[in-house]
Amino acid sequence: TKPLSINDLTEMKRRGEKITCLTAYDASFSAVLDKAGIDVILVGDSLGMVIQGHSTTVPVSIEDMVYHTRCVSRARQRAFVIGDLPFMSYATPELAAKNAAKLMQLGGAQMVKLEGARVDCVSFLVGQGIPVCGHLGLLPQSINQLGRYAVQGKNQTDAEKISQDAFALQKAGATLLVLECVPASLGKHISGQLSIPVIGIGAGVNCDGQVLVLHDMLNIGIVKRPRFSKNFMVDVNSIEDAIIAYQLAVKDSRFPSLEHSF
Ligand code: KIV
Ligand code: NA
Repeated sequence: TKPLSINDLTEMKRRGEKITCLTAYDASFSAVLDKAGIDVILVGDSLGMVIQGHSTTVPVSIEDMVYHTRCVSRARQRAFVIGDLPFMSYATPELAAKNAAKLMQLGGAQMVKLEGARVDCVSFLVGQGIPVCGHLGLLPQSINQLGRYAVQGKNQTDAEKISQDAFALQKAGATLLVLECVPASLGKHISGQLSIPVIGIGAGVNCDGQVLVLHDMLNIGIVKRPRFSKNFMVDVNSIEDAIIAYQLAVKDSRFPSLEHSF
């Protein structure tokens, strides 16, 4: 089997098939997700919290990301692998290119993700042949500016800003977008407006796909599960079955329900 490509994901959006995504940080979970048919594995910098035990994603280094991305990409066959660029690893477009190259050449990532309306970095990376996933809404790397993890884009002005940023990232060449913790109405609006697939987390059921932090949905954790996440272990007896339950619920638009949306 060869891994899915970005074209496969774009085609899924075009024909209305939901894209399933979960985070993974090691080879064992990578293989379990891959086998369950999860379309995209995100090696998120959330590993700073769920793997390393930090209270934020801010301390994560590019070396940490390369190590975990390599573990994940080695063990998957079909899933598309995205690696997160950690805090301050894309302070300038040149730095972004240097670190994105590490995630791809050493880590085996097919795409890199960065937070915020960083049109400068996105267009520079895309110009170098590096596929980029944007990330808007709640930006965990900016937690020290935000003060708390809260729903973003609740008023008209903030919602319009996120919509415009989403367009700008698409225009700059981003080919995927993660939208975190925004009202379901905004998730629907942005997914409908953009031609690139929008993967939601706490962004409602009308996004083109869904992502969750693996440890949250498996109910293992030192981190409190966010309101938009769900414990998929409740009705099953194995991790494999929990992943399959998530996979089916997303494909059938049964997750997220209103209780897991804003
Ligand atoms: O790091 C991560 O796990 C993420 C997802 C929450 C989208 O960026
Ligand atoms: Na992240």
